[in-house]
Amino acid sequence: MLKQSIKTCFKFLDITMVRIMSKTIKTTVTVIKADIGSLVGHHKVHPKQIEVAKKCLEVGKNNGIIEDFFVTHCGDDLELIMTHRHGENNQKVHELAWNTFKEVNEKVSKPLKLYAAGQDLLSDAFSGNIRGMGPGVAELEFEERGSDPIIVFMADKTEPGAWNLPLFKIFADPFNTAGLVIDPSMHDGFIFEVLDVIEGKSVRMKCPEEMYDLLALIGTPSRYVMFKIFRHDGLPAAAASTTRLSLIAGRYVGKDDPVCIVRAQHGLPAVGEILEAFAFPHLVAGWMRGSHNGPLMPVSAFNGSNKCTRFDGPPRVIALGFQVTNSKLIGPTDLFDDPAFDRSRALANEIADYLRYHGPFMPHRLGPEEMEYTTLPKVLEKLKNRFKTIDQR
Ligand code: 13P
Ligand code: 13P
Ligand code: MG
Ligand code: MG
Repeated sequence: MLKQSIKTCFKFLDITMVRIMSKTIKTTVTVIKADIGSLVGHHKVHPKQIEVAKKCLEVGKNNGIIEDFFVTHCGDDLELIMTHRHGENNQKVHELAWNTFKEVNEKVSKPLKLYAAGQDLLSDAFSGNIRGMGPGVAELEFEERGSDPIIVFMADKTEPGAWNLPLFKIFADPFNTAGLVIDPSMHDGFIFEVLDVIEGKSVRMKCPEEMYDLLALIGTPSRYVMFKIFRHDGLPAAAASTTRLSLIAGRYVGKDDPVCIVRAQHGLPAVGEILEAFAFPHLVAGWMRGSHNGPLMPVSAFNGSNKCTRFDGPPRVIALGFQVTNSKLIGPTDLFDDPAFDRSRALANEIADYLRYHGPFMPHRLGPEEMEYTTLPKVLEKLKNRFKTIDQR
């Protein structure tokens, strides 16, 4: 009898402890990506790169740096999806990712002479935070809800501003997200943090109140980039990478190929509302030599279409869904592997044809400000002395 009541007492304590702990423990989802060399030009990572990355992260997991991980790729970009309990910008987590990329570069990219080996590793030594060193980072720390579905979006052959339009639609456009009208917990809107990548300054704006001001900024996706999104009450809802490689390196070193984490359901947009924003293959900067506008095509991560071949494109986006459960990643599910997105892909192909007919002309080719970081200035330099002044009066 006594034994039984002691047992019940301990069981009760156990459950209480778990409850207390799960209340205070916050999970951080950290997605860090880098292009460290590709199989045949710029189209796909080598399977051995994924293999080595997995081994490195397994060590990180065993050492308690991370709780869980999933390694994948989007085209030629190696993607490390990690969960942990150390908060955003944690030195150990960033260092683990950095060392993983280094190891993959030394063990696979260099010996196999993969194309552009180590492309996104713009620094020699790790200095506390991986931001500004080349790889792209998106991180979101949150208290787990009863059930916490997230979607990790990863894109190839484009730049961080590519998320501006779909993120706006997901969190501010009632024609995309029915929940903004129907669900009382979303009715008061969302707060958007926008980064000016040229000035290195960010500003927070609230929708629907400041929708027009927000659009005035994010309509220039090469400069103003959606960085973080919170619900009106501060609940973290989304985070995106903002790295502009050309601004770090001062020259063209490949496109930034961004990542983005979006939380879903129960007072946030539904998974289907989030994906719906990608049914329209909007134009993004990137594609061939990072110098062309093209449609962002939603594709399956695993059915063979996750690679950029036609004119090194068109730009792709993949979406993996996970349940975040006690800091573990349950899943993934390959969300664009759905015939419902076939029409979006067909439209993207039609847009690609139309744009390709323009050849080297704008608006297919990017405008002069964007070309500044490419190899085009070398051509203009060569012609400099052949220009003669003409009286135009
Ligand atoms: P290179 O062939 O000179 O590398 O340039 C083309 C390209 O793919 C840009 O990254
Ligand atoms: P990535 O940025 O994906 O390496 O592509 C570079 C490129 O120049 C493709 O033409
Ligand atoms: Mg590349
Ligand atoms: Mg890439």
